Amino acid sequence: MSKPYDPRDRFFRKAKAEGLRARSAYKLDEIQKRYRLFKSGDAVLDLGAAPGGFLQIIARIVGPSGLAIGIDLEPIPAIAPNVRTIALDIYADVSRARLLELAGRPFDAVTSDMAPKTTGIRATDEARSLALAQRALELTRLCARPGAHFACKLFMGGETKNYERVVREGFEEVRIVRPEATRQRSFEIYVVGLRMRSRAKV
Ligand SMILES: C[S@@+](CC[C@H](N)C(=O)[O-])C[C@H]1O[C@@H](n2cnc3c(N)ncnc32)[C@H](O)[C@@H]1O
Repeated sequence: MSKPYDPRDRFFRKAKAEGLRARSAYKLDEIQKRYRLFKSGDAVLDLGAAPGGFLQIIARIVGPSGLAIGIDLEPIPAIAPNVRTIALDIYADVSRARLLELAGRPFDAVTSDMAPKTTGIRATDEARSLALAQRALELTRLCARPGAHFACKLFMGGETKNYERVVREGFEEVRIVRPEATRQRSFEIYVVGLRMRSRAKV
């Protein structure tokens, strides 16, 4: 029998005890431990960054010589001197120049934990999650350097394989991850793209 839904589960309590803003931080922590998406000194763009759990993990690893930029519809309270955040809808018309201006150089990695407000209608939620993941890939192509890494949340569904195929065209290696901190009843996965090709058709 599956366990009943517990919003204050072990990861929730751990995050609270360790001063992390969201339990989702442990998902990125696991992905980072497995694939080393970013390192000290890197510039990392985090899409769908509020309230800032991913950014806290990124900030620790990139350190004072690196930079984490977070974008979300919601404003994000200050995190650390090496973190900058912007309240923005990722569907807004943003140019490559504007994105590159954020870090002053192309990004070494892009993470996206963006999720739509769920309706409970699975087909609708899947389609909205897919649109966000496609936009994340588009923005990565615009502002990441060749060789950069990418990790993006996606609600699993009929289009998952197609999305994975498109990421595969743009990156040398693709992995699908369902981190341990993912809630049992969630149908989300992370698509990880390693080493962006220089002429990625994403
Ligand atoms: C699961 S939360 C992210 C949690 C975050 N990774 C953390 O660790 O704190 C998903 C976020 O996606 C954001 N989001 C959804 N649609 C967006 C859009 N069109 N533009 C920017 N952010 C969006 C939501 O506002 C929400 O904060």
